[in-house]
Amino acid sequence: METKACLFDLDGVIVDTAKYHYQAWRSLARRLGFDFSPAHNERLKGVSRMASLDILLEVGGISGVSDADKQRMADEKNAEYVSLISRMTPDEVLPGAEDFLRSLRAAGIRTALGSASKNAMTILDRLQLTPLFDAIVDGTKVAKAKPDPEVFLRGAEALGVAPAECVVFEDAEAGIEAAIAGGMRCVGIGSPDILGRANLVVPGLSAMTLDRLRAL
Ligand code: BG6
Ligand code: MG
Repeated sequence: METKACLFDLDGVIVDTAKYHYQAWRSLARRLGFDFSPAHNERLKGVSRMASLDILLEVGGISGVSDADKQRMADEKNAEYVSLISRMTPDEVLPGAEDFLRSLRAAGIRTALGSASKNAMTILDRLQLTPLFDAIVDGTKVAKAKPDPEVFLRGAEALGVAPAECVVFEDAEAGIEAAIAGGMRCVGIGSPDILGRANLVVPGLSAMTLDRLRAL
């Protein structure tokens, strides 16, 4: 099947924001009186903000929190996260990401972002990558979180490309599930142990070439 569009997750594919999410979640955990480890943080990758908070509270053994208090906690975490990402620079783009995006566009393949994050526009602007995407679908535009395929289907629709002609790049298992549910081929960024359902798994976008894309 010919590939007419590539859809990219943001966090963990284009940029390593997990460290900033971790810093902000750990601050919240400390204020709540417990420690949140890097291993716990792994569980938050690809998960929406409010679902991440639920996992954090479960780790801390905290139950019975009202919706209003949950919203306040999520807002506090996000304020710290936004202050961290607003200092990001273009040298934080993960190796190979910008070159691969440019080679796709030079080959006439359209590009879109498909991210759960409500902060995606801030991050792309800080990294100076916004002009490399023909469409941007982020957490402010979708109702259903991955593994629901909504974010990628919206991206394909915005580009006017059929799902079967799209390839998704994802570092989270839920994102691979979302691509498959949407009828798209997908490339896992990370470990085959976790992303085994993808059509191809590579350690990072620096390992991607147009030839590897055509072979999918
Ligand atoms: C995903 C991240 O891309 O976005 C998750 O992998 C994060 O860790 C989610 O929780 C939501 O991000 P934000 O910026 O809207 O809080
Ligand atoms: Mg991700």
